Amino acid sequence: MNFWDNFEKDKHLIIAHRGARSIRAENTMSAFVQSLGKCDMVEFDVGFSRDGVAVIIHDDTLERTSDVRDHKEFKAPYNVVDYDYAQLLKLDFGSWFVKEDPFGTIKKDEGLKSELDKLDIQRILTLDELLAFLKKNKMIANIEIKDAKETRFDEIAAKEVLKIVEKHNMKDMVCISSFNHEYLKQIHDLAPDIEIAALQEDHHPANLVEYLKGLHVKSYNPDFDITDETLVKKLNNAGFFVNVYTVNKRSDIEKLFNWGVKSVFTDFPQEN
Ligand code: G3P
Ligand code: MG
Repeated sequence: MNFWDNFEKDKHLIIAHRGARSIRAENTMSAFVQSLGKCDMVEFDVGFSRDGVAVIIHDDTLERTSDVRDHKEFKAPYNVVDYDYAQLLKLDFGSWFVKEDPFGTIKKDEGLKSELDKLDIQRILTLDELLAFLKKNKMIANIEIKDAKETRFDEIAAKEVLKIVEKHNMKDMVCISSFNHEYLKQIHDLAPDIEIAALQEDHHPANLVEYLKGLHVKSYNPDFDITDETLVKKLNNAGFFVNVYTVNKRSDIEKLFNWGVKSVFTDFPQEN
């Protein structure tokens, strides 16, 4: 079985970006629980704690998505890699969402506020525990490895992620992506049977089709801002899937699917 056999052949896929992040704090267990039954796949981001634990967080720093500023033992610039996993466990990754209402969804829906008030504190998740949860719930995943090139985990990031995927025996259930295409090459060398996808923002690499063939990816995951119909058709004709992030308007999602895009990453899986 290969990764794409998890889905019906011609189905367009909805990927919950960082979990259902318009109604729960991104990359938390509450966001992944909410995604169940609302999407075909969940996407999340992987970074590393100082002691080398693969943790689920988008930013390099803790400020935006936790209450780190309320904890005296943490100091600016609050880099994730400067703290051990045991320290990160002291932080709450859920309350900022209620305070900031980043998508305006709480303001619009009184019921959502009371649901959020009932939630427990959201602790940082490890890749290990998230994969266990997803496997139990038969949910397919896109694991995005954040670029660790400024850290001492650059050399081992891809290998570590792969090790955890293998531990859970989930090679058929995950696609691994990264903006750092070196990691994709490393994964291909270590485990050529695992699905990998090249993330891209700002501009396309030169000689894109040849470039992607060289990476051994089946998927190209561009930013919506650099995606157009000609690109999608060219890549589809060359045999690639195109999966576009981040698309939140239903009309844009439909347009992309009509162009031949295979999947979209959306913050609103509950509406699609
Ligand atoms: O994998 C799609 C998307 O998550 C890439 O961008 O910054 O949201 O991780 P970002
Ligand atoms: Mg991501």
